[in-house]
Amino acid sequence: MGEVTISGAKNAALGVLPAALLIGEVCTIENVPDILDITRMKNIMASLGVVFQTVGHDTLRVDTSGVSTFHATGDEMHRLRASYYLMGALLGRFHEAVITFPGGCDFGNRPIDQHFKGFEALGATVVIDHGCIHLKAEHLVGAPVYLDVVSVGATINIMLAAVRAEGLTTIENAAKEPHIVDIANFLNALGADIKGAGTDIIKVRGVRAMNGGVVHSIIPDQIEAGTFMVAAAATRGNVMVKNVIPKHMESLTAKLLEINVQVEERDDCIHIRPGNGPFMKANIKTLPYPGFPTDLQPPVAVLLMLAAGVSTITEGIYDNRFKYMEELRHMGAEVQVNGRTAMIEGGRPLSGCTIKALDLRAGAACVLAGLVAEGETEILNVQYIDRGYENLVEKLTALGADIRRETRTFCEDSND
Ligand code: EPU
Repeated sequence: MGEVTISGAKNAALGVLPAALLIGEVCTIENVPDILDITRMKNIMASLGVVFQTVGHDTLRVDTSGVSTFHATGDEMHRLRASYYLMGALLGRFHEAVITFPGGCDFGNRPIDQHFKGFEALGATVVIDHGCIHLKAEHLVGAPVYLDVVSVGATINIMLAAVRAEGLTTIENAAKEPHIVDIANFLNALGADIKGAGTDIIKVRGVRAMNGGVVHSIIPDQIEAGTFMVAAAATRGNVMVKNVIPKHMESLTAKLLEINVQVEERDDCIHIRPGNGPFMKANIKTLPYPGFPTDLQPPVAVLLMLAAGVSTITEGIYDNRFKYMEELRHMGAEVQVNGRTAMIEGGRPLSGCTIKALDLRAGAACVLAGLVAEGETEILNVQYIDRGYENLVEKLTALGADIRRETRTFCEDSND
């Protein structure tokens, strides 16, 4: 049996680090993944005056006492979706923020209007000028905010600003992803008063003072765990996926069982083994948590390509997250995409060729396709994969995969 240990959650760490700006003191964050997106976030925050010290291999001491600017307008802002958290964090601390528009992987339209709606409800003005967003509030005052769409980023951003507003903010129709709970737990440890994170109504009572000295450990990465569960399933492996929270994986576990993969949950690990007989087709719709995560849609598509019959995937979050199918078609995949639905005619052999990672999770799907395809697959643009998977090649090699990294091949960059 092979074993793989899951790293800290990218999307939790990308919220926790900016949240530390709210205190202007020192705190310690453990289980921080060593990935490109975190390096970029650290570079951006360092340019504001944050001092990072690495302690051990995954622990960061973060000192935000030297930050005296609310301008975050460097080039790296464009290269990271999560740079939008500097809006909420700087607005909370300084009542003012100037940030460059965040980038965004091209999954179709990715507006941030719900973030603005929340900041405006708290009393901030939002002015867009020459590609920069200027936020300013004489007084930040708690208010009810109803999100028109369930948004992870807007929920976290409004929490960040509301922590330092006067009075009560109620976020209704909030997102419930595990990392929202992790970030709320961190903020509460710093002295915030947040209740209801993980449900669709979050109540934030503003506090006057917050404190440092906190040690917080980032939760395991739900999407990295899911990627390894699917990789183990697709290769008919016998793998123990360690350092996971099985509850976070339930939507995937249910689908793997339906596809005829054996999944056994333990306290903090999940054992994947092949079922008896072939893979079964399945229909999947991506939804906000606790629904099936959109970020696991590309990897699971590869597994469905191995199941005889027609499986369908309906993308419930983004307008256009099937572009990577074109790459997999080069390997022999039979897929019809119609708007937000992909129909996969599975059971046809995939064969290796040169393909491109178009974004982070599409890149993970390319790797999985390469693992199950006949012959050699070459994947270009692997820098996208570096953004969100720590030591992917090393972890897969330890599980017995024949995979190696060659000189970096860069094409255009994107963000998620
Ligand atoms: N939306 C709006 N208005 C807004 C905000 C969102 O219309 O103001 C829409 C979006 O266009 C999308 C939907 O709401 O259709 C959900 O977007 P959400 O705001 O939840 O996504 P996000 O915060 O931009 C985060 C993750 C993504 C993940 C999504 C959904 C980070 C840095 N990114 O993005 O992660 O796909 O939530 O779970 O946390 C990834 O890790 O590969 C990745 C893309």
